[in-house]
Amino acid sequence: MGGGLSRHELAAAVSEAGGLGTIAVGGESAIAAELAAARALTARPLAVNLLLPFARPAWFEAAAGADVVVTFWGRPKRRTPGVWVHQCGSVAEATAAHRAGADALIVQGVEAGGHVRGDAPGLDLLERVKAALPDGYPLLLAGGIADRDDVARALEAGACAAVAGTRFLVSEESRAHPGYLARLLAAESTILTELFGAGWPAPHRVIANAATRHWLRGDSRGPVLNRALNRLSALGARRAPASLQARLALAQRPGSRLLSPLGATDDGPGNLVEAGPLYAGETVRRIDRVRPAAELVAALTP
Ligand SMILES: Cc1cc2nc3c(=O)[nH]c(=O)nc-3n(C[C@H](O)[C@H](O)[C@H](O)COP(=O)(O)O)c2cc1C
Repeated sequence: MGGGLSRHELAAAVSEAGGLGTIAVGGESAIAAELAAARALTARPLAVNLLLPFARPAWFEAAAGADVVVTFWGRPKRRTPGVWVHQCGSVAEATAAHRAGADALIVQGVEAGGHVRGDAPGLDLLERVKAALPDGYPLLLAGGIADRDDVARALEAGACAAVAGTRFLVSEESRAHPGYLARLLAAESTILTELFGAGWPAPHRVIANAATRHWLRGDSRGPVLNRALNRLSALGARRAPASLQARLALAQRPGSRLLSPLGATDDGPGNLVEAGPLYAGETVRRIDRVRPAAELVAALTP
């Protein structure tokens, strides 16, 4: 979970409990520092996640220090020598990542939280991806995973593992802002939108806040003008310094037309709780307690 929502505390706790914890931060020094901090907490394998539209060569070099590199969103291509897993949302993307040499794929269903690549329920997509790829090729299922029955269903359907984001977002080790956590605990529904797309005009699943109430009265994707501005802002975003994105996030209000994709972290600007994206998957309605990550790994294990 990017933008620093999942750092060394959460990744190490998940790995130490028997899962594969994933660090998701931007910048080569942050990646190296988080990985070193997680290594100090666990000797078990760790993953680093990189978003292809933003990752620069030095980020891949730093991420190569992890046991697994997970990539998302963009043309799948091997950039690190170790174990490489690509998250995909369609059969076409899955076959492209397989051809590019990915060691395994995460199949993401439309019910997932955060940025959503999948356009079909996860189990349906898994079945189609499985049929398109060689027998035994490892597929992991993401989206809709919040308890051990969900994991059991994923395994029965042929996944070799399940991926959970939202469930771990509501954990003691998550770096979500306390106001974000409170809203996650109260949420009963989610919205698939393109509203928080400054610099990255991609669909994402969130729960409601002041910004969604302000802008999403008609089309849940967001007003046409906001989406056009998002697309324009993306042209320079790749080369823009991270500090610009941070300044935009700090200044944004629920009524701002350009809304950054940065999530509300416990050490980030508090305005993002009402003016930023509160990413969450459809499982959020079944989550009513902040729990330690180790307890969650045990509760997810069939
Ligand atoms: C808060 C949040 C942030 C996310 N950020 C990323 C990210 O940076 N990179 C990525 O590959 N996936 C990201 N995802 C998507 C997850 O990889 C995964 O597909 C999703 O969490 C699965 O659905 P679930 O949240 O319902 O468990 C994010 C998900 C959430 C909830």
